[in-house]
Amino acid sequence: AAPATGPAPQPADAPCAAAEQQGEPLRFPPGFLWGAATAAYQIEGAVREDGRTPSIWDTFSHTPGKVHAGDTGDLATDHYHRFRQDVALMREFGLMAYRFSISWSRVQPTGRGPVSERGLDFYRRLTDELLAAGIQPVATLYHWDLPQELEDQGGWPVRETAERFGEYAALAARALGDRVAIWTTLNEPWCSAFLGYGSGVHAPGRTGAGDALRAAHHLNLGHGRAVAALHATLPTSSKVTISLNLHQVRALSAAPADLDAARRIDAIGNQIFTGPILHGGYPADLRADTDHLVDWGSLVKPGDEQAIGAPIDLLGINYYTPTLVSGPQSPDSPGQAARHDAHGESEHSPWPGAEHVLFHRPSGELTAMGWSIDPSGLYDLVSDVSQANPGLPLMITENGAAFEDRLSPDGEIHDPERIAYLHAHLTALHRAIGAGADVRGYFLWSLLDNFEWAYGYAKRFGAIHVDYPTGRRTPKDSAHWYAQVARHNAVTA
Ligand code: NOJ
Repeated sequence: AAPATGPAPQPADAPCAAAEQQGEPLRFPPGFLWGAATAAYQIEGAVREDGRTPSIWDTFSHTPGKVHAGDTGDLATDHYHRFRQDVALMREFGLMAYRFSISWSRVQPTGRGPVSERGLDFYRRLTDELLAAGIQPVATLYHWDLPQELEDQGGWPVRETAERFGEYAALAARALGDRVAIWTTLNEPWCSAFLGYGSGVHAPGRTGAGDALRAAHHLNLGHGRAVAALHATLPTSSKVTISLNLHQVRALSAAPADLDAARRIDAIGNQIFTGPILHGGYPADLRADTDHLVDWGSLVKPGDEQAIGAPIDLLGINYYTPTLVSGPQSPDSPGQAARHDAHGESEHSPWPGAEHVLFHRPSGELTAMGWSIDPSGLYDLVSDVSQANPGLPLMITENGAAFEDRLSPDGEIHDPERIAYLHAHLTALHRAIGAGADVRGYFLWSLLDNFEWAYGYAKRFGAIHVDYPTGRRTPKDSAHWYAQVARHNAVTA
């Protein structure tokens, strides 16, 4: 939450900075894991096959007006039927790891009770294929697709959902623990809680600040239950992690109102998760900022914070862009100031307790999402998290960008902007590692173009282009570029 000034380079940083300046290859540590990421609802399709039941995203995307152009994940990239081709592409591009998510309602259709063997078989086939290709599977248990039945019983604002999630984690680990060594409990619980139950731009589309806070606590508790279940079920060499979209919060100026805005956004955007997961509990200022919206005393039961704090083996960080904020009456507001940030249009704030904060779009280059391109945010974030959590290895579980990609007459997709984005962010990451951050891997978002939630198919994040009417895959220039990075364990020109 400091004003936007980068930290001075540390002495250990010097050789890396020198390599950067001289255009030498930036070498990553031996064994660094190069991968790409996806999520079930964004790519699988086959929403009614093999016993899968609807998730909240099926319901939401089929509700008129919720998703751009009425797009749904019904077919998506049809990965459910084309996964062999997709794994072959990963192999061709030299990926060492693949981060995917398991659709809860595919493997446990009612969100409780018995598993669906037919649903699990898909993930058995997928992981067999990956292992045969020499690619390490990294499974995320929850990437936003709650079984609709559990939402009908109250969803994440209800404590029971956390217990159900723990049970689902145990059964998934029993079924796939022999072939998946790295497990992520939740992907970006901030989005599940605050976009799903606060601003309502994500499924299930509810808009209540109290419910959003309750959802956040129960996502945390579900994470804690899942960590315990995974550690009890998996071989001891397995690694358990969570992927957080930590906000690199920057104050517009050092004015007290701007610093307080940054503090609030850091609390409700980051510490609401990192507090109990990594540092023993919810911070007092977060509770104070939001105690008019939720009764923390009855929400957080004795023992909850200990359960949520069950040790994890790795921390996953998803980073796209920094978050620039000010107080309500900032005199010098460069760029566009808005009541809400870049997480979609809604009259409801996704920031309980910080509704008066203004968000600013920094000047400079933007991606097709309207997100500013700022690799120094990745450097600062990784450095800060590393310093605050000594001994905890980190992994970049998502980073990437959407651009207006077009198929050229030569049949290729030339995406120099994406290559430049990746190059700049990997350079920043290399610098953070040189300065002492223990980062074990990097997952490009995304392997292939897919269903970008409320934006439907209008935004393309893939290294591989998907022609939706035919399902045809065409690797973009960035896929070829990234293959070289993985092959050499280094970023060159
Ligand atoms: C974060 C999410 O985990 C992923 O599902 C989404 O597509 C990307 N960010 C891009 O917005």
